[in-house]
Formats: sequence, structure tokens, C-alpha cells
Amino acid sequence: MSLVAFREVVKKYDTVLTVNHLTFTIEEGEIFGLLGPNGAGKSTAISMLSGLLDLSGGEIMVDGYSIRKQPLEVKRRIGLVPQELAIYESLTARENVTFFAKLYGLRGKLLQERADEALQFVGLRERAKDKPSTFSGGMKRRLNIACAIMHRPKLIIMDEPTVGIDPQSRNHILESVRELNRLGSTVIYTSHYMEEVETICSRVGILDQGKLIACGTKEELKRQAGQEEKLIFEIDRRSDLTMQEMKAHPSVKELAESDNGRTVEVTVKESPSILQDLLFIMQKHGITLRKLSRIEPNLESLFLQMTGRTLRDE
Ligand SMILES: Nc1ncnc2c1ncn2[C@@H]1O[C@H](COP(=O)(O)OP(=O)(O)OP(=O)(O)O)[C@@H](O)[C@H]1O
Ligand SMILES: [Mg+2]
Repeated sequence: MSLVAFREVVKKYDTVLTVNHLTFTIEEGEIFGLLGPNGAGKSTAISMLSGLLDLSGGEIMVDGYSIRKQPLEVKRRIGLVPQELAIYESLTARENVTFFAKLYGLRGKLLQERADEALQFVGLRERAKDKPSTFSGGMKRRLNIACAIMHRPKLIIMDEPTVGIDPQSRNHILESVRELNRLGSTVIYTSHYMEEVETICSRVGILDQGKLIACGTKEELKRQAGQEEKLIFEIDRRSDLTMQEMKAHPSVKELAESDNGRTVEVTVKESPSILQDLLFIMQKHGITLRKLSRIEPNLESLFLQMTGRTLRDE
């Protein structure tokens, strides 16, 4: 049984389908990335999963429980770090984590131990007595993570936890996601930074305008789209004939020269023999290869290829 299952999930505002028949599963132990541009429906999907927003259609199951019929069972298994911070500025860091822990029924010694542990985990043990109003954005975010993990949830959901924060906190957060996963939690991580998702997620769902346009491991996604890659050859001299022959290869999509023809950038469709074929052409014309590099396709280029748009706002 999958830990999380979305089945034909719909969220409708007026006539607009903000979440449009979303179907996918997440297995226990995964770090699942939900990637999509602004307004794609990531937070809406997560709010429905966490029981903060009603579904207009479909069903979400968590650990065998239905969000519609057994919302309390679902909520007990989830720790949510929302996109908008949910901490109290007038309480100290420690009071914040204990407040949330009490909501989850923790009491007494266990509560105190877990509070220390959680603050330690996010690197705020020294600041336990301070109020978040004295914290940087990244520290506030880390405090919010501590609040979400107090009850040791099976499933931790982080909605764009690294937007607009300093690099040190960002690295701390990415490392804590990995650590929480090592300790046994399944993680859902939303972002529109494809680098982050590529680095930490074992599987990725790409959301666009409420629809899941692709889902799988990075390798599966790249294969699914029949991805292109770039080969960059640095050679000792330019040769018209070589360029013509290379261009004529059926797997070569584009060829661009720079540095007086001594750097050749070739966009190729995946083919098992392409590199060998191109090297053979060069060798045949007496061209010496000085350096070869390869730019692998990434999720950004995949998104662009599938939608004709970039993941970012600009
Ligand atoms: N209460 C609401 N009423 C009407 N439309 C809404 C409501 N809440 C969200 N939307 C719309 O739903 C769409 C998806 O929003 P959502 O916040 O889920 O996107 P997101 O993928 O989380 O984006 P971001 O990366 O900016 O956080 C947006 O177009 C938004 O304007
Ligand atoms: Mg959002």
C-alpha cells in the first residue's frame, strides 16, 4: 500500500479547476518533489492533503485512511510546514514548539524531551528562549520545521521552505530534509527551484495549471520526454566538411560553432551511438579533439520542452 494516494483529486474555484484530476501515489521512505511554477496548484494540493481545504472531487488516502472520512487519522500522521509561516511572534521558540506539541497530545517529560530534540535538530537550541521577532527569515522557517516534527509524523510536508531565505539556512533545511528522511519520515517537498528538487528528491511530479504533466524518477522523466542533450567539442581547427557531415547525422538536431569554429556545440537526440559517430567523423577528417563535455538534460529543460514555458516567473 502506498503511503499517500491522490485519486482524481479536483479543486474548483467558480468554474476554474485549480487542481485538475490529480492522480499519483507516494511510497513510504520517498522524498517526493512537487515541482511547478507559481500558481500551478502545489499549495492547494497540499492543503487538501493536510485537511485544511475540502476537496471538490476525488479522494486522498494517507496510510490507508481517507481524508474525507477519517481526517483526524490523516492529520495525526502529517507534519506540515506551510508556505506562509505559522508561528507565534509573541511566544519564545521553545514555547512555540511546545504549543504545537500539546496540540498533538504530547505532555510532561516526553514533551520537554521532544522540544529540546526538535530545537536541537533545526539548530535553534541556543535561541530557545528568544522570540521569533529577533530571528532571520531562515531561522523562523527552521522554527516552523521544529513545530511540524514534534509528534514524529510519518509524512512531512514542506511547502517551498527555502524561498527567500539566506544560503546558510537553506543548506540547513535541505540537510534536515535528508536527515528526517534517513530517520524514517516520508517527505513531500514543493518547490519551483528545480535544482533543489533534482538534488534531494527521489521522485518528482511536475504540476502545471493544476495538472500533473509528468511523474517519476528524474531518469524516468528524462526518458519519458525523449530528452535531448548537448555535446561540446573543443577541437584544434575548423573544418567545413566535418561540420557538414556532423549536421547531416540523423540524431543531430542543432549545431553551433564559436571561437572560430574551435568550439562546437551539438544538440543531439538520444541515440546509443551518437558520440562514437561524431568522433568517427572528426577522426576521418584529421581533427584533433582537445576537450569534450556533455550537458545533461535537467528538469528545467524538460519543463520547457513539455510546456513551452520556463518554471520561473521571469
Ligand atoms: N481561495 C481561492 N479562490 C480562488 N482562487 C484561488 C484560491 N486560492 C488559490 N487560488 C488560485 O489557485 C491557483 C493555484 O494556487 P496555489 O497557491 O495552489 O499555487 P502554487 O503552485 O502553490 O503557487 P506558488 O508557487 O506561487 O506558491 C492560483 O491561480 C490561485 O490564484
Ligand atoms: Mg504555493
